[in-house]
Amino acid sequence: MSRLDVTESFAGIRLPGHLHTQESLEFASTFPFRHSDVLLVTFPKSGTTWMQEILTLIYSSGDPHPAKSIPNWARNPWLEHIYFKDVLQEREGPRLLTTHLPQQVMAAALRKAKPKVIYLARNPKDVLVSYYHFHRMANFLPDPGSFNEFLLSFLDGTVHYGSWFEHIKGWLSCQEELDVLYMTYEELHQDLEGSVKRLSAFLGRPMQPGQINAIERHCSFTSMSKNTMVNCTLVPREIMDSSKSQFMRKGIVGDWRDHFSSQQCELFNKKYQQEIGGRCQQFQWTMD
Ligand code: A3P
Repeated sequence: MSRLDVTESFAGIRLPGHLHTQESLEFASTFPFRHSDVLLVTFPKSGTTWMQEILTLIYSSGDPHPAKSIPNWARNPWLEHIYFKDVLQEREGPRLLTTHLPQQVMAAALRKAKPKVIYLARNPKDVLVSYYHFHRMANFLPDPGSFNEFLLSFLDGTVHYGSWFEHIKGWLSCQEELDVLYMTYEELHQDLEGSVKRLSAFLGRPMQPGQINAIERHCSFTSMSKNTMVNCTLVPREIMDSSKSQFMRKGIVGDWRDHFSSQQCELFNKKYQQEIGGRCQQFQWTMD
């Protein structure tokens, strides 16, 4: 089922029909979580694949074999994707799950079992840039138009998966009622070792120094770029066209500086100030 031109609408947001149906979205929103589950939550292009890889390695105690032999969508499946029911294995122990859905869609299901939630955020200017290039290569997403047109849609929250601003505000609001660890892409960049230690403490999975070193080696941008289980090079060209942009594109902090004009920066900062203000002060990113 390709459905490359189909768009689904759910809870006020648009999503690619290639990956979602009304039934798959409904299933995600009422998913019977277990307390032992670990749910990774991100807005697209925030470093989802990177964190999936780190979590895989934490749960394999640093053994890279699962990460090198099973595609990320099968080992850390997205709850809302069409194939989710088929890949969800009835295994014992923690299930590593992923979602891009907003908090208001997932809150009721999460409140029941209170699994561990990891919310990974990234400077929204870099998210926007990464998302723009991803739209150029992913044929299940609409044509992004010019960078400026895409920027306006991103600020309006009319891009697929909805508003970045609503996404982060929603997930920040459930700090008290859910077991959530907030992390950033920037933090992974700055101190991967420290980030793995924070994650392992949150997950209750103590790691030996040698295992942490193995995670750092395997989860570097260079190493992950070569891993066909995550770099999307096995996806057929009619679905993802790597000649237009790579999935593992640049992997850097601050690429927005090479994309934004000063006018675009001003417009973005104004919206950020209105919507977020001081709410994300704990996150290590700068808007200037
Ligand atoms: P860029 O397009 O800025 O390069 P997601 O997995 O949520 O779709 O996010 C993809 C972004 O994360 C891409 O950003 C990709 O290059 C980056 N990324 C993936 N693995 C990474 C790693 N090991 N180190 C740094 N960045 C990584």
